[in-house]
Amino acid sequence: MGLRILGTGSALPARRVTNEELSGFLDTSDEWISQRTGIRARRVCTTETLDDLATQASRRALESAGVDASELGAVICTTTSPDHVMPAEASVVQGSIGASCPSFDLAAACAGFVFALDVADGIFARGRARRVLVVSAERCTRYLDWTDRATCVLFGDGAAAAVLGAEGEGLLSLRLSTQPDTGALDLPGIPGSSPFDKTVRGPQLFSMRGREIFKFGVTSIEREVRALAADAGMEVADIDHFVFHQANGRILDSAATRLGIDASRVVRTLAETGNLSSACIPHALDHLVRSGGLTAGQTVAIVGFGAGLSVGSCLIRWEEGAAGTGPALPHAAAKAPLT
Ligand code: COA
Repeated sequence: MGLRILGTGSALPARRVTNEELSGFLDTSDEWISQRTGIRARRVCTTETLDDLATQASRRALESAGVDASELGAVICTTTSPDHVMPAEASVVQGSIGASCPSFDLAAACAGFVFALDVADGIFARGRARRVLVVSAERCTRYLDWTDRATCVLFGDGAAAAVLGAEGEGLLSLRLSTQPDTGALDLPGIPGSSPFDKTVRGPQLFSMRGREIFKFGVTSIEREVRALAADAGMEVADIDHFVFHQANGRILDSAATRLGIDASRVVRTLAETGNLSSACIPHALDHLVRSGGLTAGQTVAIVGFGAGLSVGSCLIRWEEGAAGTGPALPHAAAKAPLT
């Protein structure tokens, strides 16, 4: 499949909220959250908008790719928490970075980034563009129930982006699936004010069945990594890096154990961010790139999972000339607060 990641970038809001701070207004503790999830703190939007974060992450990805916004043939934003339902978040980003190409949003919850890679691959295959920007931007904290300790401690806000190029053979395998279950993770849409609406709705807040999602995450990661390796004619042990959805550190540990790989080979960014929904995967990938952890020729197995229940996974071979194989940008710059 002809696709190469040319550059990555991310942006987090300035405000850091620790577990201790949450325990000031919730019946919880740093000990419980750290031990059960591996999360110590998260970044929360205060004065920043999601437009700001998405634009900043996109600019950083373009800079690291050495691509000008005018070269983009499409901008795809994956989000379930946009600043606007209309226009698309992608259209706002497109205007801010100065691109003039089709732009649209894609909603596949936490698996969104991999779904967007598949869409970009199709755009390249049809010769519609040679450069596509995928930006995953989430302001999860806007829809959380801040009285529910079982959910609100898990999430944060952030954005991360990747500039994709049509040349290369960097995508070795990609798999998408959706197993219908609308109640396991649920966020109702805008209630509106239609005088004809007789449906009964609960509050417009996020809810989930946590234990089920935990098991779904672990089994999905194991199944997907084994399938990706088989598709590529490789052994799991031969894959160099593992970038999984950052929902819970214990999910990452259990998946690593089942796969028989050392947990240190699984990229782990959630301690300081919490779950960033679709932005988790590109943010973790950006972290890996900017920390100098990726070299040309290495392989990365990626698995995202979440509401739907959807799963997107892919195996990437990092190619010469992709971001990170040239001079690295300082990692701290990528995580610099927006303010
Ligand atoms: N602080 C303190 N106690 C908490 C708590 C918190 N923040 N959240 C839940 N608890 C309590 C529960 O009320 C329960 O108390 P009880 O035994 O008195 O009833 C106890 O801790 C155990 O709850 P349980 O839900 O069994 O804990 P868990 O070990 O399964 O961890 C999650 C809960 C949500 C952290 C875990 O199931 C998880 O991460 N699931 C996946 C969620 C996910 O990935 N969501 C997004 C997918 S995109």
